[in-house]
Amino acid sequence: MAKGKVDALLGIVFGDEGKGKVVDVFTPRYDIVARFAGGPNAGHTIIFDGKKFVLRSIPSGVFDEGKLNVIGNGCVIAPDLFMAEAQELEAAGYDLRSRLHISKRAHLILPTHRVLDRAYEAAKGKNRVGTTGKGIGPAYSEKASRTGLRVGDILENFREKYEALKARHLQILADLHYTDFDLSGEEEKWLAGVEYMRQFPLTDTEIELNRALAEGKNVLAEGAQGTMLDIDHGTYPFVSSSSTVCGGVCTGLGVAPTSIGEVFGIFKAYSTRVGSGPFPVELFDATGDKIREIGNEYGAVTGRNRRCGWLDMVALRYAIMVNGVTQLIMMKGDVLDSFATIRVCVAYEKDGVRTTDMPYDTEGWTAVYRDFPGWQTPLNGLTSEAEFPQAFREYIDFIERETSTPITIVSVGPDRAQTIQR
Ligand code: GDP
Ligand code: IMO
Ligand code: MG
Repeated sequence: MAKGKVDALLGIVFGDEGKGKVVDVFTPRYDIVARFAGGPNAGHTIIFDGKKFVLRSIPSGVFDEGKLNVIGNGCVIAPDLFMAEAQELEAAGYDLRSRLHISKRAHLILPTHRVLDRAYEAAKGKNRVGTTGKGIGPAYSEKASRTGLRVGDILENFREKYEALKARHLQILADLHYTDFDLSGEEEKWLAGVEYMRQFPLTDTEIELNRALAEGKNVLAEGAQGTMLDIDHGTYPFVSSSSTVCGGVCTGLGVAPTSIGEVFGIFKAYSTRVGSGPFPVELFDATGDKIREIGNEYGAVTGRNRRCGWLDMVALRYAIMVNGVTQLIMMKGDVLDSFATIRVCVAYEKDGVRTTDMPYDTEGWTAVYRDFPGWQTPLNGLTSEAEFPQAFREYIDFIERETSTPITIVSVGPDRAQTIQR
């Protein structure tokens, strides 16, 4: 039997590119859908048949009832939030208990990790990262410092291990003089979430995945966040705390680099960013507001305004390079329907120096633009490439040429059905 492959679908900018939508569209082609990084900081929106779901920790392949979904070892999981998310799906008729496997090696986010997240942000003052407040940084820090708790820990002497780690966190908070929290109700829900998680198969997902690959099955690795939020390759320190890039698929699922097949890089026809940090293409004017308004660019997790700007080819090329992207997927072209001129950042400039390579620090760099005529006609009813307006076709051609990578999927609306394969 031919060995199966792991295809990766990765956000290649600052997250919120539309990963959830495309994973849902792609799921029928795969046997397994697996998350390899991140946790409830993600918010993946899926819309079909007039229904809308926003998934955080649960993979976006769960709406296809025949498929196995996996939360891999590279993820962090908050049992209370997981329970709320899974119960919401259950109420909508999707019972995941037998078809969602959770890695015993994934790390747990404790309620006190969330308090620490807030405390560290408060201590940073104006340099705060603008995190989602879900305890992501503290949980991954403890993974790296070898003090964290893993999903497998809930199977034995859990209460003891939990109390010990909580005590350690409370000591850190006392040392920081951070007192703005009350754990009582939250802790109860969290412990109920731990009990709830026991109803799911808590397994060695890396072994299951490799067996499935050996049997010729195919896996879709669902990215979270985006390359510019990657702990190594993003705009550090204004990043998340996991490996969001293609290398993270191997470490976050326990699969070999040789098992990686296609690498889908997903991006929007323009740029957005949530939270703090440099963003050379950011628009502070009415055009930025218009993109936010039409694109509904408000955070799926926190409701925060997403910062908006034009497409950034410097970031795109960099992300294609570090991920080995083989196919691009362009989302939300329809949001730009009404613009007379559409700009694309083709280089960065600072102190008279121009570069097309991603600088070590993008702070202080400004965008150099190239202008394109807008198509000024609605894309959201289109069903095939043949119907693309000429100006839209030219926009796509330009991106393909600049990146030497084909755009094989174009999304023209949030619904599952508004997806055009080229
Ligand atoms: P993810 O985190 O990468 O899964 O993306 P999010 O769900 O956070 O954000 C993407 C947003 O854009 C969601 O509200 C989607 O419903 C919406 N969306 C996805 N594709 C399209 C598209 O082609 N056009 C429009 N207008 N909206 C889209
Ligand atoms: P999806 O998967 C957009 C951002 C936060 C903050 C930084 C660090 O939906 O694309 P964290 O809570 O991870 O410590 O926050 O990363 N961030 C995201 N931005 N989409 C996401 O996920 C994000 N996950 C984290 O806003 O700037
Ligand atoms: Mg999102």
